[in-house]
Amino acid sequence: MTGNRPVKTALIAGNWKMNLTAEEGIALVQDLAGRLGSPSGNEVLLLPPFPILAAIGAAIGDAAIELGGQNLHWEASGPYTGEVSGPMLRAAGCRYVLVGHSERRSHFGETDRTVNRKVRAALECGLRVILAVGENEEERAAGRTRSTVRSHLLKGLEGVAAGEAARIEIAYEPIWAIGTGTTATVEQAGEVHGWLRDDLRRLFPPPADDPIRILYGGSVTPENVDTLMARPEIDGVLVGGASLQAESFARIARFQRETTIALPGKSC
Ligand code: PGA
Repeated sequence: MTGNRPVKTALIAGNWKMNLTAEEGIALVQDLAGRLGSPSGNEVLLLPPFPILAAIGAAIGDAAIELGGQNLHWEASGPYTGEVSGPMLRAAGCRYVLVGHSERRSHFGETDRTVNRKVRAALECGLRVILAVGENEEERAAGRTRSTVRSHLLKGLEGVAAGEAARIEIAYEPIWAIGTGTTATVEQAGEVHGWLRDDLRRLFPPPADDPIRILYGGSVTPENVDTLMARPEIDGVLVGGASLQAESFARIARFQRETTIALPGKSC
């Protein structure tokens, strides 16, 4: 037990974004599977680009690594050139899908409304959803972190029934920490995770909220993962850059929760 909540199986997710060919991805998976070795008790998930999902799924084989998509369309099929649907992800071997990443929101015009449609479509076709939320630098400076993440969370989950909560994960990703090398301090991350947990409890009264894991994302590295994962509010990590190398991602996936202590005032 950590605090008054049981420690959940940590989810360690690698978001490859628009990186790696099939050949490079397969080599990474083979290297990663060898490094992970025996099951660590943590759940490891890879989110490769769409065209290489099937190849990566085949390379994973029997290894204890899950597969997921980085995005989906809310319709199951139809005239949506360039899009990929939830049933297509399922057929390609995905168990998870990431929805509402800040890069989707900022570069591709995703709104809370489209994010919500995607969340519901993903749940409907049996996928697990990782809903990404997070404030930008301006919002944090203006003291609007809590209202921003709350709005992402509540609007993203609108219309989702408590019975579906067990297939949801939340990723708190402060935009100013993504790909910048500036990680949120454990206090900053812990505070926001606490707010998100409170809001989730209101939305899905306990015990329905309990299975929902809240991940931290934003410049997670082998050097800071132990400190982050020592916080009881942090149930896993969503990793971008450091997931593109087997060595660093394997170290992150095998973080040392038990040997680290979150020191007050210590940043990661
Ligand atoms: P980063 O990306 O680890 O490279 O900061 C995280 C993410 O965008 O999910």
